[in-house]
Amino acid sequence: MEEKKTYYVTTPIYYPSDNFHVGHCYTTCIADALARYKREKGYDVFFLTGSDEHGQKIADRAKAKGVSPKEFVDPIIENAKDLWEKLDISYDKFIRTTDEEHVACVQKVVQKLYDQGDIYKGYYEGWYCTPCESFWTESQLVDGKCPDCGREVKLMKEEAYFLRLSKYQKEFEEYLEAHRDLMQPESRYNEMVNNFLKPGLKDLCVSRASVKWGIPVTFDPDQTVYVWVDALTNYISALGYLSEDDSLFKKYWPADLHLVGKEIFRFHTIIWPIILMALGLPLPKKVYGHGWLTIGGGKISKSKGNYKDPREFIKDYGADTLRYYILSEVPFGSDGNFSEELMVERRNSDLANILGNLVNRTITMSNKYLKGHLTKIKDVTALDKEVIDELDALVVNVEKEMDALDLPKAIEHIILALKRLNKYIDETEPWILGKDESKYPRLNDVLYTIIEGIRLCAIELKAFIPETAEKIFTMLETNKKSFDSAKFGDESEYQVIAKPEILFTRIDEEELKARLAKEEEVEEKVEHLSEITIDDFAKVELTVGKVIESKKHEDAKKLLVSKIDIGHGEIRQIVSGIAEHIKPEDFVGQKVIVVTNLKKAKIRGVESEGMILAGEDDKLGIVTADLEIGTRIH
Ligand code: ME8
Ligand code: MG
Repeated sequence: MEEKKTYYVTTPIYYPSDNFHVGHCYTTCIADALARYKREKGYDVFFLTGSDEHGQKIADRAKAKGVSPKEFVDPIIENAKDLWEKLDISYDKFIRTTDEEHVACVQKVVQKLYDQGDIYKGYYEGWYCTPCESFWTESQLVDGKCPDCGREVKLMKEEAYFLRLSKYQKEFEEYLEAHRDLMQPESRYNEMVNNFLKPGLKDLCVSRASVKWGIPVTFDPDQTVYVWVDALTNYISALGYLSEDDSLFKKYWPADLHLVGKEIFRFHTIIWPIILMALGLPLPKKVYGHGWLTIGGGKISKSKGNYKDPREFIKDYGADTLRYYILSEVPFGSDGNFSEELMVERRNSDLANILGNLVNRTITMSNKYLKGHLTKIKDVTALDKEVIDELDALVVNVEKEMDALDLPKAIEHIILALKRLNKYIDETEPWILGKDESKYPRLNDVLYTIIEGIRLCAIELKAFIPETAEKIFTMLETNKKSFDSAKFGDESEYQVIAKPEILFTRIDEEELKARLAKEEEVEEKVEHLSEITIDDFAKVELTVGKVIESKKHEDAKKLLVSKIDIGHGEIRQIVSGIAEHIKPEDFVGQKVIVVTNLKKAKIRGVESEGMILAGEDDKLGIVTADLEIGTRIH
């Protein structure tokens, strides 16, 4: 028997979070669509995803909750797996960096590099951003803050071990010259070469003394392995590299594709390949750095809180609507805007109208006139031939785009084919043929052609919207649903289901708009209590502050996001519903009264740490104070 071709595709391993958003779903959906597609094409696929569980941030969060880091992450990981299940993610393995096998592998990798002299002891000094677990050089900081998240960084110096990246620079550059495919898309290749390789690689810090929640370094137990070395190694530890059973490693390595967001591209295309090079292992064939999903122009992110739980979308619209939208909407490689309204628009136009109606109408007419029974086309007209040729070209076109990793283009081809079938219905007018029994042979040929077309499109759609594709096959009562039979005419006879199921109900877009507007209002509304005692009032901490910065909220026109100096070196970010009454530039400089012990809240996705006193008669006014910043009001 001929040996199967293999395909190894990975997503990044995610930081444990209960706040996964559609941005996380994006990488995973792309990987899933590719994995499904390659499986259909007969590849032996290994699709890996997982979680990245070590590091100071996790340790801190666990401590705050009074549990061990492992206890802290366990339920979060279950929650992530639940999301992947709901989204129909067909991963073959979910790796956790706390898995024993992973820990052992990382330790062996670091030991091996140490033994061969590629790791040495030195001192690490740098600006460290704890939330991002990243060190930055002075020049990388933006206004003295973390360039990624904008938060405070601190200067740290401590003993640490280093990997001689510099030693491999030349070898790596030569490799890259001959393997341009490693970095995709092309624009990111240029960025890596110009910004990181040309200036010369610095040795990489591979261990930390200050981070206790991590994998201990075997030759110096005071140190733990730096999170990125730990994390990147998952791609080979998951296959059993350096373990007793490394059969998966032998079978699947090197990876065919690492899919990553653009912000972690450098780790995957410079650091990771050099680690592999030092280990004497083949490098991944391709790393693709995709863009971000954005909301109102900004990256969707946990720290900004500008998102809904994807499960809400899945509950309201089904997994396939979400998958379809994020896979088709964003031009591959670029950033793309995410909005619930646009998602619903696409569902209505593409999935409900172009696909759903076509399936429904065709099955209904087949039943109405021909008892749901269709036989192979006999008299092929010029029009039929044109449509059949287009359908047969679809397989080739989609394959070409999938190989180029351009999923939106692949989907576009399928939608075009479906549109062609809709047009063919208008051209052939089967409802008129149905009025005259002598035209039934022609009617059969027409409906057969459409049903065959639907079947072929469903085969192509399997990778993207698997649940819907399966429903279509069920309604057509066909088992010719693999690429082996993706040729017009491969199903010779149909007895379609008597009552077709509606694939996608139409969502009322006006209703949705109204609902979203209402949600906005509820979020903006500030609750006021009546009747309190003096003791109650004493619980309210009021402080004089000065507005030092103010801007409009990106997504809500009534809201201002302001930074208030409340004295004693403390700055608060506060969201208030006053944007329609005062311009940000006029607000800056004012002395206001702030409720400084108000529980933190997210208002339209932005964190708000307090409340600014204002009043509203027919016109809104802000309560100002002629007192020193930091003064308490009682
Ligand atoms: O970076 N749009 O994990 P992570 C598109 N643990 N993709 C987004 C996104 C958005 N708005 N937000 C996040 C890590 N992502 C490391 C990886 S791998 C050895 C270690 C994507 O949970 C992001 O680009 O922060 C990345 O690919 C993935 O989610 C994981 O992000
Ligand atoms: Mg990240």
